[in-house]
Amino acid sequence: MNLANRNLVTIDDLSNGEIEALFSLADEMANSPNEQSGLCQGKIMASLFFEPSTRTRLSFEAGMLRLGGRVISAVDIGASSLAKGESIADMAKVLGSYADIIVIRHPWEGAARVVADYAGVPVINAGDGSHEHPTQTLCDFYTIRKERQTVKGLRIALWGDLKHGRTVHSLIYALARFGATILFCPGPGLEMPEHVLRRLSTEYKGELQRCRDLNQEPERRLFPIDAIYMTPSSPHQLAMLPDISIRVELKAGVDALYVTRLQKERQAPTVEEQELKKGYPVVDKKLLKGKEFKKTLVMHPLPRVDELTHELDADPRSMYFKQAAYGMPVRMALLALLLGAKEVTIPEEEDSFVRKIDYPVYKRDSGVKCPNRNCVSNQETEVRYIKPEFKIVSREPLTLRCVYCDHELHPRYVASSEWHQRKLESKKYHSADSHFAWKINPENLIIFASEKEAQAQQFKPSSYARQ
Ligand code: NCD
Repeated sequence: MNLANRNLVTIDDLSNGEIEALFSLADEMANSPNEQSGLCQGKIMASLFFEPSTRTRLSFEAGMLRLGGRVISAVDIGASSLAKGESIADMAKVLGSYADIIVIRHPWEGAARVVADYAGVPVINAGDGSHEHPTQTLCDFYTIRKERQTVKGLRIALWGDLKHGRTVHSLIYALARFGATILFCPGPGLEMPEHVLRRLSTEYKGELQRCRDLNQEPERRLFPIDAIYMTPSSPHQLAMLPDISIRVELKAGVDALYVTRLQKERQAPTVEEQELKKGYPVVDKKLLKGKEFKKTLVMHPLPRVDELTHELDADPRSMYFKQAAYGMPVRMALLALLLGAKEVTIPEEEDSFVRKIDYPVYKRDSGVKCPNRNCVSNQETEVRYIKPEFKIVSREPLTLRCVYCDHELHPRYVASSEWHQRKLESKKYHSADSHFAWKINPENLIIFASEKEAQAQQFKPSSYARQ
């Protein structure tokens, strides 16, 4: 199968079978990295890193050079025309005429999607704000596969800044898709965002359970689990006895502990860094003496700061330098596939852990904005070309998901385009919580950010407007 001209903006852009096939190609690249120089000759990769990077950028660039291609790069937003107020879309169109493939890291969530929408060449997301980092997930998975052969049925603990870390946001969807059980171990105030957990619990077949009570116990303070996602392939039933199930799960051991650093550059300015650092959980020799960590792979996307002690580097359980090293063959395989230099056979998919849901999409420009200030749809100085677009993921309560950054929105007021087109006096808006509102067909739905917004568009309150 040919993956030429595809984008990798979110980890969901690749199916499980495609990821498996990519890994087989990565094995080939790893076995003979010096024999690949004929594959991408004459091709140019644009490498745009508008946030700091060492591993991701240099493994992409080294990978492209080993494939025989060439690299052009921009690493400072201040030195590019974006600083002059150029839109991301214009930059993407121009670069699409210079390069055959674009790799972009950008501080705004959804920026890579906008580049993919306009470039006309394949685009790879190398990290967009706190949103996603799909190629890091490929490296993480490749590492787990090398050490444990399969991800299915493994217990993987995610540790640290789960709120702002983009690596864990891509990773959990992939773990759920491949049938892993996930333990969430955040630093205080750094829990996985609600919209990510909701997506996990509605779109995958496993069971999500919060376990805040468990953290009161002294033994749990060392290992601060606040939620668990149990894959359907697990023999336990969470809903009945969550704390007992977790204990049973932990007894069997943690297969991988995925540590992340405090993303200090993404904290709200009001939050004291010193405060967050104080309670930030540290992985050290003492913690790893616990029985549940006997055979644990200790992983980290790097860079590490203080959350993972150097005394562990020589420990055979430590995987982080391997993870970084695998970046090159994995990214070589990805470049070769998206540039159409290699074809692969996609293996048949095993049991699916995903619920297939086709959400209706809301595209009307009725003044509603994504609530995430760091979303590309709120950040561009000239945003008129970025049309707000949301998936309607729930009707009761009405919940919309931004297609750029995945943040959720609960609009308070709605109307139907059907009614007002027929009679002007029936141009009414309703509370989004009213049963009347739930009956509106998605294609007729109009949402408003406020009553003022509805009235500005000549809608009058219905008797269901103030419920
Ligand atoms: C990660 C990132 O940039 O999100 N680094 C990486 O790509 N390996 C993790 C981090 O910066 O903490």
